[in-house]
Amino acid sequence: MLPQWIIEKKRDGNELSNKEIHFLVKGFTEGSIPDYQMAAFAMAVYFKGMTPHETAALTFEMMHSGEVIDPARLPGIKADKHSTGGIGDKTSLILAPLAAACGLTVPMISGRGLGITGGTLDKLEAIPGYRTDLSEKEFFQTLETCGCSITGQTAQLAPADKKLYALRDVTGTVPSIPLITASIMSKKLAEGIDTLILDVKWGQGAFMKTVEQARELAQALVEVGTHMGKNVRALITDMNQPLGRSAGNALEVQECLDILNGGGPDDLKALTVDLTAHMLERSGVFPDLGKARENILQCLENGTALKKFEAMVTAQGGSTEWDFAEAEIQEPLPAPADGVVSAVNAELIGKGCLVLGAGRQKTDDTIDHAVGIAQMKKPGEAVRKGDPLAVIFSNDRKKMDESFPMFGKAFRIGSSFEPRPLISEQIS
Ligand code: URA
Repeated sequence: MLPQWIIEKKRDGNELSNKEIHFLVKGFTEGSIPDYQMAAFAMAVYFKGMTPHETAALTFEMMHSGEVIDPARLPGIKADKHSTGGIGDKTSLILAPLAAACGLTVPMISGRGLGITGGTLDKLEAIPGYRTDLSEKEFFQTLETCGCSITGQTAQLAPADKKLYALRDVTGTVPSIPLITASIMSKKLAEGIDTLILDVKWGQGAFMKTVEQARELAQALVEVGTHMGKNVRALITDMNQPLGRSAGNALEVQECLDILNGGGPDDLKALTVDLTAHMLERSGVFPDLGKARENILQCLENGTALKKFEAMVTAQGGSTEWDFAEAEIQEPLPAPADGVVSAVNAELIGKGCLVLGAGRQKTDDTIDHAVGIAQMKKPGEAVRKGDPLAVIFSNDRKKMDESFPMFGKAFRIGSSFEPRPLISEQIS
């Protein structure tokens, strides 16, 4: 078998066998198949697609290109959530301790942000001392004592994905449904979980710009997960508006603490509660979503979810003093007119945060954890001319001045607002 035969077969639109996919992924991981051949293969997949069977085989091979956590090593029912990412999406920080407080074990291996969408690890690193580079032993210890752990991908977890993603990033082959599916699912399924809930976002601030694209990706993800014998469900959620009132790493952790203390913005709370409820119901912990929600709200109100979060942060070296770095310049963004906030463009909020230094344009950029935007007005809220639409946090005058018009453009003031459901559908 030669790699070029496999590339040619895919280029001509034919279905590959399990053996051919195994040969390709193994050779690429070990280095016997060079980047240029794998890039040609990725481009062939981009144009010709893959059948569900091929996508499942690619996921399986990428997942087994490294270590796969043996589920028997972890206590109880193991469940996780994956989000395709969005502006102000900080649900993982609340959901992991919340699900653990309700009885699940949550082994969450997360990523960093690139472009406008922030990464869970970047947010957690705003907590002084918090370590996202746990060894396997430390990861298991944290899971055993706290019921949840959020850490980064080790070199041993799905190494084929790490290599292939870097190649796709520079060859125009990221937006391919089968490649995205295999990439996401190979990492998540290597965690040794029983249940996976997928938050597939669509809209201006998301990877998928239309609900149809999000639905197609959700269906592919659910199909592969189910094929691998897991309990999988996807929710299609709206990412035209930012989630919550803050975007930026330390500001977002503060907002998570607000929710864990019984307050916080309604949209963030509603989505986190629903995602956690689906996790619990799909795992069989509660017979229906209503019972699951009841227990979740109790764990938020009685402080048990907060205790779980504090235990995880402490176990991973973080300080629970919550003394985050503060930005030197903090300026309100004034409303240009009286009216009702009719839209907040998530993409522009993300771009403004990127200019401030809250995210990275290249993988090796450093992040300023203190900067971002907070106290954002939400669609439907009334404002008077000059009222603050939000507060901008910066450590650099020039960056503040550059980002200000972007944030200004993100807020639309009108006379009415048409509410849209945050969760539009579910795919099981
Ligand atoms: N996230 C991933 O992990 N992989 C992709 O291909 C796209 C988004």
